[in-house]
Amino acid sequence: MKNKVLLFSFFLLYASIPTNAREIGLGYYKHKGTCSCSDAESIVKSVVEEALNKDRGVGAGLIRLLFHDCFVGGCDGSVLLDESDRNPYPEKKARNNIGLRGFEVIDEAKSRLEKHCPGVVSCADILVFAARDAVEILNGIGYSVTAGRLDSKVSSASEADQILPPPTFDRQQLEDLFVNKKGLTVEDLVVLSGAHTIGRSHCSSFTNRLYPDIDPTLDEDFANKTLRKQCPENAYVDGVVNLDHVTENALDGQYYTNVLDLKTVFFSDWSLLTSQETRDLVVEYATKPGVWEKDFAVSMPKLSNLNVITNPAEGEIRKSCRAVNSYY
Ligand code: HEM
Repeated sequence: MKNKVLLFSFFLLYASIPTNAREIGLGYYKHKGTCSCSDAESIVKSVVEEALNKDRGVGAGLIRLLFHDCFVGGCDGSVLLDESDRNPYPEKKARNNIGLRGFEVIDEAKSRLEKHCPGVVSCADILVFAARDAVEILNGIGYSVTAGRLDSKVSSASEADQILPPPTFDRQQLEDLFVNKKGLTVEDLVVLSGAHTIGRSHCSSFTNRLYPDIDPTLDEDFANKTLRKQCPENAYVDGVVNLDHVTENALDGQYYTNVLDLKTVFFSDWSLLTSQETRDLVVEYATKPGVWEKDFAVSMPKLSNLNVITNPAEGEIRKSCRAVNSYY
């Protein structure tokens, strides 16, 4: 009897595994067979290189795009979908997705790949490759990423706003999200936050710290002489400021010195000083050159692997990264 139960459990387990699920892995598109597109990664890289040669800021955009894709649902290209009559509120429309950029780079890579090997490379993978390449071009930090992800068929602004962290989050809320909800570690949280060493923010994302009074967690001089000047109260246009006021275009560990100096624009960045564990990491990255870079190359692949879709019943290879295939 015991054996029969055991056999039956094995059967149930086997039956529940989708037999045609894709196996994601390194160099996925180099394999022979239907998923072959051996130049996929190099094609994406040349597109990213061209884009960053014109505007390095796009590199910051691609890294943030990856984070926002992977945290909502999973790394499934859902952030890339445009609004349509069937889905008027995709992730792009979420408040927490303000300022997303880099979409044209993904479009260009997709269009070259569709000419080279149609219907093979997913948008989710293109984004993962593009963010990896941006990191390497900006800083020389190299890391490998697996591929074989499928693209989602859904994208929801309200889900994005529920999950993506606003800049008003405190450390406890950030830890709850990164560790309890996403299965990352406190170290990943501190390491990945270091991406705020490049790129920019809209004033509206942090003016609550400048007016009517300067938030005491912000350096007063920095707030008065830099931020209030760049973001006047009640300005007609929502301006942008650099996230790192010291080395704005360098993907380096400067962010951690800025955190210690109370010179980061978001409250969430400051909040990393509020526990011994996170503060110690901030101090370590600020004072030991090269350590953050090494750890960033470990946390980025982890981010890139969150909740990927491998079952063809749940995902697809989109023809265009901006629309699901059934739209055509
Ligand atoms: C820890 C919680 C985080 C919060 C609360 C947060 C919040 C924000 C906000 C509010 C902006 C500016 C948006 C705007 O006003 O235009 C921003 C920009 C940015 N974030 Fe984060 N972020 C977080 C984590 C991350 C992570 C994990 C990454 C990547 C690994 C990342 C990468 C970036 C980059 C590169 C930019 C600049 C984008 C550009 O210049 O286009 N952030 N973030």
